[in-house]
Amino acid sequence: MAALGFRLLFLLSAVGSAAAATASGCSSMAFSSNRVYAACIDLPRLSSSLHWSYDNASATLSLAFVAPPAGPEGWVSWAINPSGGGMIGCQTLIAFRQPNGVMGIKTCNITRYGPVAEGPIEFETSDMAAEQSGGVMRLFAKMKLPAGMTEVKQVWQVGSAVVNGVPQKHDFKPENLQSLGQLDLIKGSISASGGGTAPRRNKYVHGILNAVSWGILLPIGQLFARYLKTFRSADPAWFYLHVSCQIIGYAVGVGGWATGLVLGSRSKGIQYTTHRNIGISLFTLCTIQVSALLLRPNKDHKYRLYWNIYHHSVGYTVIVLGIVNVFKGLQILNIDHKWTVYFIIIICILGGIALFLEIVTWIIVIKRRSDDSRKSHDGSTSSGVQRSISL
Ligand SMILES: *[C@@H]1O[C@H](CO)[C@@H](O)[C@H](O)[C@H]1NC(C)=O
Ligand SMILES: *[C@@H]1O[C@H](CO)[C@@H](O)[C@H](O)[C@H]1NC(C)=O
Repeated sequence: MAALGFRLLFLLSAVGSAAAATASGCSSMAFSSNRVYAACIDLPRLSSSLHWSYDNASATLSLAFVAPPAGPEGWVSWAINPSGGGMIGCQTLIAFRQPNGVMGIKTCNITRYGPVAEGPIEFETSDMAAEQSGGVMRLFAKMKLPAGMTEVKQVWQVGSAVVNGVPQKHDFKPENLQSLGQLDLIKGSISASGGGTAPRRNKYVHGILNAVSWGILLPIGQLFARYLKTFRSADPAWFYLHVSCQIIGYAVGVGGWATGLVLGSRSKGIQYTTHRNIGISLFTLCTIQVSALLLRPNKDHKYRLYWNIYHHSVGYTVIVLGIVNVFKGLQILNIDHKWTVYFIIIICILGGIALFLEIVTWIIVIKRRSDDSRKSHDGSTSSGVQRSISL
C-alpha cells in the first residue's frame, strides 16, 4: 500500500514537472521585445531555464531566467553568489507582482535566512523587466560583472507567496535545496556543485546507519522475541538473540543519531522538523527500553506483567516510528528511488516472515492447548508449565 502510494506520488510529480518543463524550458522559447540570447540551459531543478549572452569585452551578462513560481502569486529569483555557499551572500534578482499589480524586479543582497529585504547588490544592474504568462514568470536583466568573472556560482529559487510586497520563504524540499551550481558563461556549461561532496557523504553514512539499525536490526530482534519464544527448545536462546540484536541495533542507531545531530547543526536555516523530532523520540524511547532491562522484575514477580506490557508497547512503537523515519529520511535525501524500493522490499520480506511465523505460532499454540487438555482429560496430570504467548 505504501509502495503504491510512493509510486503514484512519484509518477504524479514526474508528469507535473514534465508539463512545466515544456513551458519553461529552452526549446521553443521566444521572448518579447526581440530579446535573443546566445545560450540557454535547462536547469536541473525547479523546471527552470537560464538564457544568456555574455559580452567578454564589457564583462556584461544579459540574462533571462524562466521558471514557474510555486504559486500563482509567488516569485522567482536568480542570483550569483560570489562568496560560494548557498543562500547567504546571494546577489539576487527577484521577480514578483508588485503591490501596484505590475510585474517587477527587485535586487537584494541576502545576509540572513528569513524574508528578503530589497537593497543594492554587488553588481551594477540595468534593463530589468519581468513578465508572467502561461504559468511561468520571466525575469530579464543585465549585470555588469567584474572583468574575468566568467565562471559564477548561480542559485535559483521559486516561492509561492508575496505578502505586502515582501517575497515569503520558499519551500525546503530537496528541489529547492539543490537549485544551485557552477555556471560557465563562456563555455555555456553548468555543474551541480551542490554543497560539496562531504556533507552528501555524511548524509549517506547517516542514512545507512539508521536504515540498518531502525529498519532492519531492531525489527529482526523483535521477531526473535516474538516467535522463537514459542519453541520450548529455544528458551533461553531467544532471549540472548533478542537482547544482542537490540543492543547492536541500538549501538548502530546511536551512531546514526549522532551523525544526524551533526548534520542538523550544520544545516543552518533548514530544519526537517518531523524527521528530527521522530529521531529524538526514537533515541529517547530506545534508551529507556535498554535501561529498563536492568529493572526487569523476576519472571514470577507480580509487576512482571506490567513490565511486559510497557516493554512490548514501547518496542512496537519504536519499530513503527523507526520505519516511518527511515522513509522520511529517504525522502529528504532525494536519492535514486531504487533505494526506497529496496527498503520497501526488505520491510515486506520481514513483514512476510512475521506473518508466516504468526500463523505457525498460532497453530503450535492451539495444538499444544488441545494436547494439554486431552492429557488432563486422560487423567494424567500435566505438570508442565502452560506457556502462553504474550502479545
Ligand atoms: C575575456 O576578457 C578577459 C579580460 O577582460 C581576457 O583576459 C580574456 O582572455 C577574454 N576571454 C576571451 C575568451 O576572449
Ligand atoms: C551585502 O551584505 C554583506 C554582509 O552584510 C556586506 O558585507 C556587503 O557589503 C553587502 N553588499 C552590498 C552591495 O551592499
